[in-house]
Amino acid sequence: MMILEAKDLNYYYQDGDKRRYILKDTSVSFEKGKFYTILGQSGSGKTTLLSLLSALDSPHGGTVLFNDEDIKKIGYEKYRRNNVGIIFQSYNLIPTFTAVENVLIPMSITENDIPEDVKTVAYNLLDYIGIVQSKADRPVNKLSGGEQQRVAIARALATNVELILADEPTGNLDEEMEQEIIDIFKKMAHEHDKCVVVVTHSNEIAVQSDQAYLLRKGVLSSYE
Ligand SMILES: Nc1ncnc2c1ncn2[C@@H]1O[C@H](COP(=O)(O)OP(=O)(O)OP(=O)(O)O)[C@@H](O)[C@H]1O
Ligand SMILES: [Mg+2]
Repeated sequence: MMILEAKDLNYYYQDGDKRRYILKDTSVSFEKGKFYTILGQSGSGKTTLLSLLSALDSPHGGTVLFNDEDIKKIGYEKYRRNNVGIIFQSYNLIPTFTAVENVLIPMSITENDIPEDVKTVAYNLLDYIGIVQSKADRPVNKLSGGEQQRVAIARALATNVELILADEPTGNLDEEMEQEIIDIFKKMAHEHDKCVVVVTHSNEIAVQSDQAYLLRKGVLSSYE
């Protein structure tokens, strides 16, 4: 069964009396246990598509289904709180909070079943992703870009979600760090049965995914 499906998504900006379509009847589906990439030129609408899939914005037409249920019916906030982990290109961490405090935030608002000892879980998760305790206790604005990206990934995983959406998560990293992050995503999909969808400019990342899509002129097609 598909965990996430977009059906006939339409999204446009009004340009005078004309509509400029960013997404035109876009349909795509994603299953658990797979690592997907979405490529496309700058301005092609990748971030727009992710924002619709993660319920940060709503389409002008079409639906997004999570486990066969319309996310509108689930409720956008509830869906974001319980069902999806989002990783932004600019991290969106709270800069003066420590790494572990940033990871604890979604754990405090989710309704998912998570272990009671949230602090231990948060430290373990950070450690798993390569942030040792001494760094976990540091305000995130005192961490490097690559370290902050890892914190953002730990935060996305903290609520035990099955679906992870990431917008150019390695955009600011060097090649070695990029590969480490990609290896984490692959492991999440293939060993932990999660569905991972990553927007990227990188062909090297695309060839490592189970399925790559190309977004062009509002239409999504298989990327070869
Ligand atoms: N508020 C707005 N009004 C008009 N057009 C907008 C607005 N916000 C975004 N756009 C346009 O929508 C298009 C899609 O933007 P989007 O951010 O989804 O692209 P992208 O594929 O993520 O690009 P990048 O690779 O540079 O991140 C762009 O052409 C952008 O200029
Ligand atoms: Mg973008």
